[in-house]
Amino acid sequence: MSFLEVCDIHAGYGGADILKGVSLSLREGEIGVIAGPNGAGKSTTLKAVFGLLHVSKGAILLDGNDITNRRPQELVRAGMSFVPQEKNVFPSLTVLENLEMGAFVRRDDYGHMIERIFDFFPPLREKAHQPAGELSGGQRQMVAMGRALMTEPRLLLLDEPTAGLSPKYMSEIFEHVVAVNRSGVTVLMVEQNARQALAIAHRGFILASGRNRHTGTGAELLADPEVARSFLGG
Ligand SMILES: Nc1ncnc2c1ncn2[C@@H]1O[C@H](COP(=O)(O)OP(=O)(O)OP(=O)(O)O)[C@@H](O)[C@H]1O
Ligand SMILES: [Mg+2]
Repeated sequence: MSFLEVCDIHAGYGGADILKGVSLSLREGEIGVIAGPNGAGKSTTLKAVFGLLHVSKGAILLDGNDITNRRPQELVRAGMSFVPQEKNVFPSLTVLENLEMGAFVRRDDYGHMIERIFDFFPPLREKAHQPAGELSGGQRQMVAMGRALMTEPRLLLLDEPTAGLSPKYMSEIFEHVVAVNRSGVTVLMVEQNARQALAIAHRGFILASGRNRHTGTGAELLADPEVARSFLGG
């Protein structure tokens, strides 16, 4: 059974619909990658899944439950967490304070999660008391992901975690995504670096103009000459 099922959703920002029928499906434990050109509706899809936009048509199911148009706070309680494309850390707060902000919905003791996150992202341990704004771009992405993991989500939504990073840091972030996934977290990730992202994806969804254009396993999409020509730069 699907863990996340997005069925033909339509959504926008108040004007005309930006999403004109987007569908995707992930089983628990998978990595799903959404790729496609600028303006295709990739971020809009993640925002709709996280309850930040009104879905006017279609449905979103999480673990068999209809969660269409539920509020983000409720979705966090249902096991979802979201790292937006921009402004995803508090630059003037320390690394530790950023992680603590991620736990604001928790009333229990979350100390063990701080330790787990430092184990996941070793470079953050020694920077714990430094303002996040002083970190490198790759380390800031680790803080953003760490913050999102503080609620121990079952589904992590990531919007372009490697944007603006050097190739070395990019590979490192993809390795971290795989490690987080192997720990049992289902991941839905938007990526501009589609070739590398599809290489770690169980399922891939290529969007264009607010609709699905190609859907398949990561390997199938990488092997498809039409996908390569139109979306992966040949
Ligand atoms: N807050 C907003 N208000 C109105 N329109 C928006 C808003 N955010 C995005 N859009 C529009 O929605 C469309 C899809 O944007 P979206 O951010 O989902 O694209 P994307 O696929 O994530 O692109 P990119 O690769 O550039 O991040 C674009 O035409 C964009 O101009
Ligand atoms: Mg985007």
